Amino acid sequence: MLTRFVSRLATRSRGSAVASRALSPASFRAISPGLSRSLHTVESKAHLEKVAKDSVPLVTFEQGERKEQMLHVDPQPVTSTVQDSQTAAQPFDGSVFQNLTPTMAKFTLIGRVAIITGGGRGLGLNMAQALAEVGVRGIAILDVQPDIGEAAAQKLSEDTGIDVRFYSVDVRDEDGISEAIENAASHFGQIDILINSAGIADSNIKAETYNVDMWRRLIDINVTGNFLVAQAVARKMISSGNGGSIINIASMSGSVVNYPQEQSCYNASKAGVIQMTKSLATEWARYGIRVNAISPGYMDTALNRVPALEAQKKIWIDHTPQKRLGGVADLNGLAVYLASDASAYMTGNNCVIDGGYTLW
Ligand SMILES: NC(=O)c1ccc[n+]([C@@H]2O[C@H](COP(=O)([O-])OP(=O)(O)OC[C@H]3O[C@@H](n4cnc5c(N)ncnc54)[C@H](O)[C@@H]3O)[C@@H](O)[C@H]2O)c1
Repeated sequence: MLTRFVSRLATRSRGSAVASRALSPASFRAISPGLSRSLHTVESKAHLEKVAKDSVPLVTFEQGERKEQMLHVDPQPVTSTVQDSQTAAQPFDGSVFQNLTPTMAKFTLIGRVAIITGGGRGLGLNMAQALAEVGVRGIAILDVQPDIGEAAAQKLSEDTGIDVRFYSVDVRDEDGISEAIENAASHFGQIDILINSAGIADSNIKAETYNVDMWRRLIDINVTGNFLVAQAVARKMISSGNGGSIINIASMSGSVVNYPQEQSCYNASKAGVIQMTKSLATEWARYGIRVNAISPGYMDTALNRVPALEAQKKIWIDHTPQKRLGGVADLNGLAVYLASDASAYMTGNNCVIDGGYTLW
């Protein structure tokens, strides 16, 4: 045990030197590929992208059939370059319910409705598939990348036969969020579950060189955006009187400092998400709303598929007791548990799911 600990420390020291040589001071980059262009050009406040929009394109897929309309708020042009390989979700056969034991039945979500931000790809999309497989009747995906969001919604609807809506929304846009949540609540008649998975990461930026506009942008998306969607959905859950379950995707970076890459802003943002989760859980328990966080370790998603991180992945895997990155579907079971009545007495919890990375 002692030997393993010492050897880990040695690896960390060596990795640090290698990493700082390999990365020039100007090598900051956005980890979310769809957002990288604007981040690379941030030099002053004049270059900050405009968040306000005039309308939100809403695309609905019922039984796979595409219908389009515009919701009056604010447009958000974004391009996408990467899509995670997906497994197809399987339709849920409601007739199995009567054969389930009471314990198994508590893990189903029959007839419920879920909102999932960042559901266009990656962890958010995979959790959406998982909820569909345990019985939700409706899903609204909110994502800033319309092309991947639409494709994801259409495929999920075709695969499962459920009603899936896509809203092209930036989680920093309060009006856009409000409009989308109003529309989803009115269309589905209820909202029972929210998964806040939208987020970005900046890595390999030394704190002393951090551009303040990049800092503010990340905090705005990861913390304020998470709060704004939670607030809009909670208002609906409170007025319905039925409560609900809110799941915030934080990160182990909210509890430990990643190595070897410097990413102080991301780490601070996820610590903020964890504490916000506890605060909202306390405030909203009286309304029957549970709020929990999932803190993943290193997951193999597009967020991490950038050249600057490839070498560092070897270090991450070496430092993970399970000796692998998390798979894109590895949060699914936990998300279903937190969304369902199986976790009825759990609120304000930060569930770390990291292959053991934070154990040593
Ligand atoms: N991948 C990891 O290793 C890892 C580890 C810990 C935590 N997380 C967290 O998990 C969440 C999902 O990450 P992922 O790996 O699936 O990343 P991803 O980049 O594959 O997916 C994130 C999704 O969020 C969307 N998004 C980004 N900014 C947005 C905005 N302003 N408004 C609306 N949508 C926006 C993107 O378009 C994308 O579809 C993030 O919050 C991330 O911080 C990821």
